[in-house]
Amino acid sequence: MAENPFEYRLLASGDSFIDREDEMESLLESVKGGQNITIFSPRRYGKSSLILEAFDRLGERNTVYIDFNRVNSIPELASRLVTGVTESVFSSFEKGVSMVKDTLLSLRPTFTPNERGGISISLELVKTEEDLEKALHFSQELAEKRDLDIVIAMDEFQRINTLDGDRLERLLRSVIQEQDWVTYIFSGSQVNMLREIFESGDRPFFQSTKIMKLGKLPKDPFKEYIVRSFEKTGFNIKNDIVDEILDITEGHPMRTKELCFELWNKKQSGKEVDSVRELLYVLIFNDMYLEDTWNRIRSAVHRRTLEALANNDKPHSQESIQKYELKSNSHVQRALTSLEREGILYEGEIVDPFLRMWIKKRVVRST
Ligand SMILES: Nc1ncnc2c1ncn2[C@@H]1O[C@H](COP(=O)(O)OP(=O)(O)O)[C@@H](O)[C@H]1O
Ligand SMILES: [Mg+2]
Repeated sequence: MAENPFEYRLLASGDSFIDREDEMESLLESVKGGQNITIFSPRRYGKSSLILEAFDRLGERNTVYIDFNRVNSIPELASRLVTGVTESVFSSFEKGVSMVKDTLLSLRPTFTPNERGGISISLELVKTEEDLEKALHFSQELAEKRDLDIVIAMDEFQRINTLDGDRLERLLRSVIQEQDWVTYIFSGSQVNMLREIFESGDRPFFQSTKIMKLGKLPKDPFKEYIVRSFEKTGFNIKNDIVDEILDITEGHPMRTKELCFELWNKKQSGKEVDSVRELLYVLIFNDMYLEDTWNRIRSAVHRRTLEALANNDKPHSQESIQKYELKSNSHVQRALTSLEREGILYEGEIVDPFLRMWIKKRVVRST
């Protein structure tokens, strides 16, 4: 039996990686030219997929991927960093250990073989600023010694603020500045926080990297991919159905695939789907995440601002302020700023097309 080709919970790679041609070119160009780069977009737009696909396309180059969502302390960051770098450079445990032991000696590392046949290095004792600095310098030292370039991606980098904000940020910036063998890719979904790190004049990383914004996926290549994936697994899909899907999702990478995933399952179980919207409504009303998101928004003005946006009304207009009881222009402004900071809005629009639909339907149902 064919597998569902729209598995939206896995990162896209290889054949399942759609488009991003310009972004990929720009990213590869930066990396090859040794220029550090920052990628930002709301969550689920495809940053991690883009980075890891770029790593695949870099082939022989030494790449390290660190997800800051999974880093909870400074010793852990140091450990992940040296482990990642060592793993990417050495494929054998013995060789790796013998080559890096001396360099890391003062940090008293513990070496353990991991499942992939590589090395895990634990640096429990990274306590002082000096220790951390040593761990951060490690990639450059190894690169120089082995005469090779290293690329390090730090995903969801804004979480640096939760580790040890200022000090770590300053230290990292000063170390990176001197590393001509190592190129960094920073990325993150909390756009406001990331912008503050890279675009505020008083922060260490100010203007230190190239900035790249990632948008939704363009409709044409997405459409082509959807049609091809249905056909490859033995199903036909009408053009206007695909158009309707992309109309609803506007090319939001994950949500588009999620809708296709459900549609494919229906077809697989022998059911024809006449209306994508019906399918969507079933999907969103069973989605606890949407309900949770809504419940977390406490302020009535915030909720009603979202209702206005979901209905395509401009919340700032006098008409909307009356219709949705938004009180005043400055109330609207505060709501927009706060929703943007929480990642619910991006550039003034509701990020998640399913949430948008959920809000819209909810309003209709409750009046
Ligand atoms: N270029 C792409 N081609 C195909 N699917 C993609 C692409 N980018 C993202 N996706 C889909 O969207 C989901 C979210 O992407 P992800 O890379 O995790 O986004 P982010 O890191 O920005 O949160 C992935 O699991 C994947 O299914
Ligand atoms: Mg990601």
